Parts: sequence; structure tokens; C-alpha cells
Amino acid sequence: MSDLKQELSRLRHTFDEAIGVVQGHSSQAVEQLRVQFLGKKGELTSILRSMGQLPADERPAVGQLANQVREHMESGLEGLLATIKSNERELRLKLDRIDVTLPGQRLLQGTRHPLTKVIDEICSVFVGMGFSIAEGPEVELDEYNFELLRIPEGHPARDTQDTFYITDSMVLRTQTSPVQIRVMKEQKPPIKVVCPGKVYRSDALDATHSPIFHQIEGLVVDRGVTMGDLVGSLQLFARQLFGEKTEIRLRPHHFPFTEPSCEVDITCWSCGGTGCRTCKGEGWIEVLGAGMVHPGVLRNCGIDPEVYSGFAFGIGVERTAMGRYGIDDIRNFYENDLRFLRQFR
Ligand code: PHE
Repeated sequence: MSDLKQELSRLRHTFDEAIGVVQGHSSQAVEQLRVQFLGKKGELTSILRSMGQLPADERPAVGQLANQVREHMESGLEGLLATIKSNERELRLKLDRIDVTLPGQRLLQGTRHPLTKVIDEICSVFVGMGFSIAEGPEVELDEYNFELLRIPEGHPARDTQDTFYITDSMVLRTQTSPVQIRVMKEQKPPIKVVCPGKVYRSDALDATHSPIFHQIEGLVVDRGVTMGDLVGSLQLFARQLFGEKTEIRLRPHHFPFTEPSCEVDITCWSCGGTGCRTCKGEGWIEVLGAGMVHPGVLRNCGIDPEVYSGFAFGIGVERTAMGRYGIDDIRNFYENDLRFLRQFR
């Protein structure tokens, strides 16, 4: 038997050993084997190259054997590759498995807070009348919250609006009226804004009072603005929010930053004006304070009261929401009890 025949069967043997070791490995390892045994610089190739030196009558037999060894190696590698690939696929299927019969996770859907709903509703009524939205900080300068609104130190209004002092000159705002000051200092008339936000007073928490509550301020400044514009705007607001039949009533009042000033009532949303428990037999419910912007306030903000006039109002959000939804205790709004909040879906 020629040396080459021996070499071929040795090669077949080494291949079988090598392929046995690679079982279960990656497809990369199979590729390495292919290069090693069948590649251009592989062992089979070098054996085939030396075939030229054989006597002619030996060549066919050796050539046949070489072909058998090549086929053996090729089909061995192919089979191994197939096994490895199917193993890999099975593993992937196992790892990626999703059990579609498992119960799903319920997504909890939140709801808007009733106060947010009322604020949005009121603001959109005014936006419909051409107002834009303005905001100011809750930590406010004493100067803006009191001083420029004509509530100097020692003024009795400071007692009814006692608050939390951050420093001597900075407070938690007691009303949204300082946003009037900010807007008038920054913008020139015509001005038409509503300003929703939180306000603070050092009141004890009970069924109708909270140290933190919400207001919506309104401010209009232009040439020739009158009390008639104030009444018309508030009438429209009341009807849109509480129904077409709602009437408003103005009672004289006093605020340091408006002149004249008034408190505004609307016909009771419960009885429509005949008198019931909700309105304590009055037929009317107070919803806001308002008035014509005091000339001194305009002047404090650099607006000439000889040229411009304006009106302002402040709506209590909690009070309005309690009326709208028939809520009798203000504390419901702040306790985050889902049984309460879910009713406003
Ligand atoms: N800021 C006043 C209050 O909190 C309400 C108000 C606003 C009155 C604007 C007149 C004009 O009581």
C-alpha cells in the first residue's frame, strides 16, 4: 500500500477524532475544522498535491480514496453543523418562551383630580373668551403679595391673610393676586389673563378650611374697561359652568386692591334660587371676589390709570368644586382616598 493511502486513512482517523471533540460546540468551531481539513492550506489539499509524484497506475486508486475521504469529511461537517444549529434553535426557543395563557397585567388607569378638572374647566371657559393663562410662584415676595396690592404692613388684611414667612421679605402667597402684579409689570395692555394656582394661609384644617387651597385669578386691563365688562364676563362664566339659567348677584365689598369691590354670588346650583340646605335658605352662593383694579395698583406696575382701566376677580376653586359635585368636606380633596377619587372618572 502506498504511503499516500496510509496518510489518507490516518487523516480520516484524525478527522473522526476531531469531530468527536467538537460535538456540541458552536458553529464557529465547525468552520475551523473545515479550514483545517478541507481548506486550501488543509491536510487533504497537501496530500492531493503530492499525488502527481505517484506512478500513473496507482493514481486512480489513491484518487478514489481521496474523494471518499473528502466526502466523508464534508458530510461529517455538514451533519455536525446541522445538529449544532438545531440545538442552538431549541435553546433559543426555550429561553424566549412566552406563555400566552398566563393572565395579563391589569393597567391601572388614573383619573384627573376633581380640583384639576374644575380648574381646567374654568380656565377653558375664559380661554374661550380670549384670555390666556399666566402663572406665578407659590413662594412670593411680600412686596407682590401685599405691598404693591396696597396692603402695607399693619393693614388689617394682613391678619385675615396670615401666612407662612420664608424670610422677612418672602412668603407663601396667600392669594393669586400677586400674579396680577407680575403680569402688569411684564406686559403692556391690552391684558387678559387667568392665573390658576395654590395659595396658603395659616388656617386650621376643618370641613370648610384648608391651609392650602386653590384660586383662579382673572385680570383684564385695557382702554375703557368698565364694571359692565366685569359683570358680562362673570355672567358668561357662571352660565357656562353652572348652566344657562344661572344668575349672578354683586354685593358691595372691600378689597384693598380693587375699587369699587364686590363679592359675587350665583343662584344656588342645588335649588336654582328658591332656597335649600346647600345655600342655607339664601338661594345664592358666594363664589368669588372681584372689582375694578385700583388706580394705585396700576400705577405701582407702571400703567397709567388716566389711560387704562381694568377689572380683576378671584375664584375659590375648592368652593366651586364642592358645589359642582356636592362634596361637603374639603378634606376629601387632599386625602388621596381612591374610593373618593374614582368617582370623578
Ligand atoms: N385675592 C382676593 C382674595 O383672596 C380675591 C380677589 C381677587 C378680589 C381679585 C378682588 C379681585 O380674597
